[in-house]
Amino acid sequence: MLIKKLGTNLGVEISELNIKKDVNKNIISKIVDLLSEFSVVVIRAQNINNEEHITFSELFGNLEFTKVGTDGSGSKVIILRNFAEDGTILPVSDRQRLNNLANQVWHSDSSFKEIPSKTSILSAKIIPNNGGNTDFLSMRAVYKSLPDELKNKIDSKICWHDYSFGRSKIDPGLVSKNEKEKLPPVKQRMVLTNKRYGKSLYLGAHCSKIDGMGKKESAELLLELNTYFDNKSFIYSHVWKPYDLIMWDNRAVLHRATPIIGEIQKRLMVRTTIAGKSSTLF
Ligand SMILES: [Fe+2]
Repeated sequence: MLIKKLGTNLGVEISELNIKKDVNKNIISKIVDLLSEFSVVVIRAQNINNEEHITFSELFGNLEFTKVGTDGSGSKVIILRNFAEDGTILPVSDRQRLNNLANQVWHSDSSFKEIPSKTSILSAKIIPNNGGNTDFLSMRAVYKSLPDELKNKIDSKICWHDYSFGRSKIDPGLVSKNEKEKLPPVKQRMVLTNKRYGKSLYLGAHCSKIDGMGKKESAELLLELNTYFDNKSFIYSHVWKPYDLIMWDNRAVLHRATPIIGEIQKRLMVRTTIAGKSSTLF
């Protein structure tokens, strides 16, 4: 197994590893360490089916079941695609396409759950020729860059995360009544602490409001914090190759898809999500 650093503040690439044959206790523990330190681990050339994807993912913990209203609902995989079963590209107004649009905003997977996910594992099946990348943003680097005064202001703040909040901005009808009922807003700590690697900011598209603050005051503070995201050295942008597998730490990075450039082409990705073990509040 070969390891290469990717971004300045995050990301490593593993090559010369076949996750169907080569994994053992030592390899798993090495990947866990890399994930803790670098937040994003890219494993090249893994042509796996969904069963193999699940088997590998379960070596790292229990998996989340896919929520209502998402392709793959009730199973351990999420299917992200922009085309129908018959292969035709879906219209822009289709739920899948609108959800893909929502995924182009910085977010942390499952931050709208009481116990948000720890890690996502995404496998590329079909990728467009141009665009459709995934950007990752180091929220440890963002936190570190904040002035002390701002750090002190936010260290003990709690945010509300609401699945329908971000989605409704894309299209007011995108979230169904059933989804709203099943996914009520939850509270999350705004600053998370990793015992070994320090503090990180925990925000993203699902964060609707800061608890205990007025609407305007909360929106202004969130906007101010967002201005610190805009630093190239905090971002690793992954240009996918077919069969790349990426694992990322949802409690240390935000991520977003980038638009497909030019004529729309098929994109098919499959994701598993490792459940978190505890709430961010305690
Ligand atoms: Fe995501």
